[in-house]
Amino acid sequence: MTAESRVTTGIAGLDAMLHGGFIPESAVLVRGAPGTGKTTLAFHYVMEGARRGERCLFVSFEEFPKSLYSDAASVGCNLADYEANGWLHMVFTSPLVLLRSLEVPDSPLMQTLMTHDIRRVVVDSLTHFTRLTNDSLELRRIYNSVINAFRREGVTALFLGEEMRSDFTAEEKGRLSFIVDCIVMMRYLEIESAIQRAILVLKMRSSDHDKAIHSYTIGVNGISVGEPLEGRIGLLSGLSRHTLISTVQTAR
Ligand SMILES: Nc1ncnc2c1ncn2[C@@H]1O[C@H](COP(=O)(O)OP(=O)(O)OP(=O)(O)O)[C@@H](O)[C@H]1O
Ligand SMILES: [Mg+2]
Repeated sequence: MTAESRVTTGIAGLDAMLHGGFIPESAVLVRGAPGTGKTTLAFHYVMEGARRGERCLFVSFEEFPKSLYSDAASVGCNLADYEANGWLHMVFTSPLVLLRSLEVPDSPLMQTLMTHDIRRVVVDSLTHFTRLTNDSLELRRIYNSVINAFRREGVTALFLGEEMRSDFTAEEKGRLSFIVDCIVMMRYLEIESAIQRAILVLKMRSSDHDKAIHSYTIGVNGISVGEPLEGRIGLLSGLSRHTLISTVQTAR
């Protein structure tokens, strides 16, 4: 697959990590702790879609829609303008209503997807579905149902998800990591007594990708991905240490 056929995120450094962008029509999970910038990444994705002439659907479970518009404005993204120009459809709903809408072909949501030729979808966030059930199998069924509904429509979907401590163990509730095609992780790292932001492409089906952990910053222009964080380990455990120190510890 050529870089031209990839679905670009609008964040140059992340596109480079993805070897051009997401695979078209894939299901992507953007996972991270609160405040790491998942929603901000989604704003970039929408702005890039509009720039390329691809219509976007943004599904939010935010109870106060105004705050989403002001969050977007703080990184230079005017959601209302994109809506007015027809590039963006904002849907504020609940997890249960979304789930039901996806099961009914002539629901307003499915009609929007089809009649407006939506190419990019954001769901902010999948974590809200955990409120619907305590049963892991049922949660997996729900995740499958949501993700596959968008897969069937041939859209490239960005699912945002809060990170849980157990996500990298066999007990991950709902086994979300196995269902999606691509995982982008955003994390805080403690380096030299300061908190830094770090981003990693953890998985990407049917493509190679950058395996390095990169630093990133958030500012008035949104997310900017920097250089790989060399000589550090521990992103997955949440503990950042010098490679040298951890090598010494391992040798003991
Ligand atoms: N203009 C800005 N300049 C600097 N930092 C900013 C700016 N706008 C937002 N941020 C930072 O971006 C972060 C919020 O990002 P975002 O809301 O995308 O995170 P999130 O991962 O979606 O969080 P949550 O899990 O709570 O939904 C905050 O840490 C905030 O300080
Ligand atoms: Mg968010």
